[in-house]
Amino acid sequence: MRLALLSVIVAMMCSSSSQGATDSLVVCLPDTTNNMFEPVSQSAREIRELSWLVLGICAAIGLVVEAVLVWSILRFRARPHAAKGEPSQVYGSNSVEIAWTVVPCVIVFVLTLATVRTIREVELTEPPSGALMVIAIGHQWWWEYRYEAEGVVTANELVVPVGRPVWLTLLSADVIHSWWVPRLTGKTDLVPNWTNHTWFNAEQAGIYKGQCAEYCGTQHGGMFLRVEARAPAEFAAWIEEQKQPASVVMAAEQGHQLFTELACMNCHEVVGTSDGTFGPSLTHLMSRSTIGSGVAPLDRDTLRLWIADPSNLKPGCNMPSLKLNDEELDAMVGYLLTLR
Ligand code: CUA
Repeated sequence: MRLALLSVIVAMMCSSSSQGATDSLVVCLPDTTNNMFEPVSQSAREIRELSWLVLGICAAIGLVVEAVLVWSILRFRARPHAAKGEPSQVYGSNSVEIAWTVVPCVIVFVLTLATVRTIREVELTEPPSGALMVIAIGHQWWWEYRYEAEGVVTANELVVPVGRPVWLTLLSADVIHSWWVPRLTGKTDLVPNWTNHTWFNAEQAGIYKGQCAEYCGTQHGGMFLRVEARAPAEFAAWIEEQKQPASVVMAAEQGHQLFTELACMNCHEVVGTSDGTFGPSLTHLMSRSTIGSGVAPLDRDTLRLWIADPSNLKPGCNMPSLKLNDEELDAMVGYLLTLR
C-alpha cells in the first residue's frame, strides 16, 4: 500500500521536477505543461484514471490512520491522578486480527485488478491498425527517430500526425533509457539488445514535452523529449521536406569541406555527404527547433557555442570540441545553417 502511494507521489514529483529542470536551463522548450493529469491520448487518460483511483484509496487510508492516531493520542493521554502501572493488555482478539488482515487484502486485490485492466488497455502487443511506425533509439544523450517506411531519419524532435496512432519500437544504442511523455503515454524503457514497444494517439495538435526517465549517465537530465503533433496535411508536408536531399549552397562550401575533412562525418549523417550514425542525423538539422536533445534553442549563436565546445551547453556530452578557430567556426556554422 505504501509502495503504491509512494509510486504515485514519485510520479508526480518527477513530472514537476523535470519541468523545473527544463525551466532552469536556457529557455528551450515551449512553456507547455507535461502534467500527466492533462492527458491528450487514450492511454494517458487510462493511466490518469488509475492514478486517481490509487491516489483516492491511499488518501482515504491515510485519513483513517491519522484520525485513529489523533483520537488515540487524545483519548489515552496521561492525565493527573491516573492509575499507575501498565494499562490492561489485549492479546489475540479474533475480530481485530481478521479485520486488519482481510481489509488490506481486499484493497490490494482491488488495486491489482484495476492495474491489470489498465495495463491490458495501455500495453498493446500488436500495432493498432493504420499506425505510423517509428523506431526510437536512445543514445547517451539524445534520441534518434527512424521513419522506416517513409525513409526519414531525424533526432530529438518526433513529429507525428494528429489522430493517427503512433507505434514506437524502442531500442537502445548503449545503456537503458526510458521514453516518457506524460501527456501521451506512460514510461517504457529502451533496453540494449531488447525490443520494447509503446504507442500513443495524440488527439490535439501541440508540442508535448517529456524527459528520459531512467538514469543513463551524466546528461540524463539533459535528455529531453519533444513530440510535435501536427494536422495530417502538415505532417505529410513535413515528411516530404525531410525526404529532400540535403541542401548544397555554394556559399557554404568552405564549411562543407571542413565537415568532410574533420571528424564530423564519422558520427553524423548528412544524406549525400556522410553516413555516420553515432550522433544525430544533420540532413535537415535546421528544421528542428532545439539543440542537444532540448538543452537549448537552435539558432546561429547556440550552434556556434555548441561546435566550439559541446560541453558549454551539455557537460559530459560525448561530442568532443574540435578546437576550431573563429574563421573555421563561422564557416562550419554557415554550412550547418543551410541544412534546412
Ligand atoms: Cu537517457 Cu536517462
